[in-house]
Amino acid sequence: MSRGKAFDKTHRIWTAAVVALALGAAAASAPMPPPPAMTVYKSPTCGCCRAWVDHMTRAGFRVTVHDTSTLDAVKATRHIPPQLQSCHTADVAGYVIEGHVPADLIERLVRERPAIAGLAVPGMPMGSPGMEGGRRDAYQVLTFDRSGRTTVYATR
Ligand code: CU
Ligand code: CU
Repeated sequence: MSRGKAFDKTHRIWTAAVVALALGAAAASAPMPPPPAMTVYKSPTCGCCRAWVDHMTRAGFRVTVHDTSTLDAVKATRHIPPQLQSCHTADVAGYVIEGHVPADLIERLVRERPAIAGLAVPGMPMGSPGMEGGRRDAYQVLTFDRSGRTTVYATR
């Protein structure tokens, strides 16, 4: 092998290594979507609401909490059907979240962006996020729209 060819080969290997490193760095620094911001409305004394906020924070959501004594007004302005209501209400990415909805389903909601108003877990089922400790009841996560129509989004 002549000196020239040896140099060419070495040069090619180095070039490939540099390109691979650059690609790796580009992939590592590719802009990740920021964790969604969420605003939660709850009564100041609600313990299971606080536990649900912790669940959302652990999942990476940036949560702002507003303690309020006028939750009925919060729910009314968001068109949450009365039979779907629960202890707390949240806004995230243009959607309304009512009650103890699991974080992974909210991640799916903001990723897929269906044409609904939001998700609700009516009441406060035992075993849902923020309601741990006792038994685990099966429960449904429902979609709702502004006309009050609901569908089953998931069963847990
Ligand atoms: Cu609750
Ligand atoms: Cu709550």
